[in-house]
Amino acid sequence: MIKKTKIIDYFQANISELSEDAKELVFEAQRAIKTAYSPYSEFSVGSALLLDNGLFIKGSNQENAAYPSGLCGERVALFAWGANNSENKVVAIAISAQNKEGEFALAYPCGACLQVMVETESRTKEKLKIIVQINDQEVQVFNGVECLMPFSFSL
Ligand code: THU
Repeated sequence: MIKKTKIIDYFQANISELSEDAKELVFEAQRAIKTAYSPYSEFSVGSALLLDNGLFIKGSNQENAAYPSGLCGERVALFAWGANNSENKVVAIAISAQNKEGEFALAYPCGACLQVMVETESRTKEKLKIIVQINDQEVQVFNGVECLMPFSFSL
């Protein structure tokens, strides 16, 4: 038997400490919250992608009366990228969320969204920076999907 350990390499910072690009990306994710369609959960998730040409793509959770037909904010943005802008690499994604009281709410990407991010990395051949807003002021920044999904499925 071999005991193995994986280390999660990430940092936590105030939004004001981020680079201009990263700060703007977080603000885009915050703006995207307003476009969520979440009448069932009343939990609104905004996401934003930064592409290597400086373009931002926003996404937000889109729910449906037939619950599984809805989609998370992260995958809405990532699939919009695939359908519209895949000639440019995605370099980062930011995620920000609000509860029904309109207060900030912590939302790490779910497993299905992480699996789609894994596929995105394999398409771009670049690590994806994942920025998760963890409270009103701060974010956690993960360098690569492997930090949040250390083992993932591939064919
Ligand atoms: N949701 C996201 O948009 N992203 C996640 O990573 C997890 C959950 C959405 C799905 C649903 O619309 C609401 O949050 C409550 O689960």
